[in-house]
Amino acid sequence: MSTIRDVARLAGVSVATVSRVINKLGNVNPETADQVLKAIEQLQYEPNSVARGLAGKKTGTIALILPDISNPFFPALARAVEDVAHQEGLTVIFGNSDGLGLKERSYIKILKKKYVDGIIIASNTVNPEEIEHLRKDQVPIVLLDRGFDMPTCPIIRSQNREGAKLAVQHLLSRGCRKIAHIYGPQELITARERLLGYEDVVSRLDWYSPSLTVPGNFDIEGGRKAIKLLLERQPDIDGVFAGNDLMAIGALKGLRDEGIPVPEKIKVCGFDGISLAEITEPELTTVAQPIYEMGALAAKILIREINTGISENTIIKLDVALVPRKSTWKEGIDTHEA
Ligand code: RIB
Repeated sequence: MSTIRDVARLAGVSVATVSRVINKLGNVNPETADQVLKAIEQLQYEPNSVARGLAGKKTGTIALILPDISNPFFPALARAVEDVAHQEGLTVIFGNSDGLGLKERSYIKILKKKYVDGIIIASNTVNPEEIEHLRKDQVPIVLLDRGFDMPTCPIIRSQNREGAKLAVQHLLSRGCRKIAHIYGPQELITARERLLGYEDVVSRLDWYSPSLTVPGNFDIEGGRKAIKLLLERQPDIDGVFAGNDLMAIGALKGLRDEGIPVPEKIKVCGFDGISLAEITEPELTTVAQPIYEMGALAAKILIREINTGISENTIIKLDVALVPRKSTWKEGIDTHEA
């Protein structure tokens, strides 16, 4: 059965133009309208009620569902999505799901009813079957940052595992000889990939033990609690890699509470590259994700699918970059290696 995208392709116009012709929304020049009608006839295209609804109700709106807007990482992501959407004349509806499956599903249900033109989700609870379903209903969707590893739609995140290795190698290059890891919730692929990257480097070193890894819930309080637990378990650690900047900031707080100087006694490295990391005391070394680039790319890929029906179901992993600051290096206390 032909779809609205087949008609658009044959007529050489966007899906939005086809829907304007189908729904007689005007502002289509006669020749183009004629081309579209010919394509509809040639393909025997029958807009079904859902397709007509979706096509007819192109609202010029996309949705972005985020798991935790209290974490500065996500507003930075949203900034990029909104900038690109605005340039294309689209409006963005934001939703905060707290990473809860029920909340995410109710958002998706409402958004489908409102006929948003497409959805970007930074989620770990949506599964491949649900994505398939949405795409059958002709709802373009892009997964951003979190989400599963099966490319049933475009998925964009950063090189988490490589970035974790970069963090640990940096701490080793700063002279650390016993490095702990505070990890995020393991149901999140981003947290899992960073723990794997940490283990890739340290598991073959003689001082390594699983007791050097503790959970930190991806938030400040989690990082503060985690460092206290690590100091009880392994008082001789001299380096900490935290799986995101908020946990690293919590660890800095916990070390300050214990009167432990950073970086003299323990060096700390985070992951994300949020702007808060520039104003901590000491400033936080981190592995910066290309947050703006990730959000902008997700929006561009979604908008291309909305306009052309073309979508590549691939996983795109963007490079990260180490940003050395004072939490791992101080003038005169150690060599500044590469
Ligand atoms: O800080 C929030 C974390 O959740 C980030 O590292 C991001 O990658 C997301 O997965």
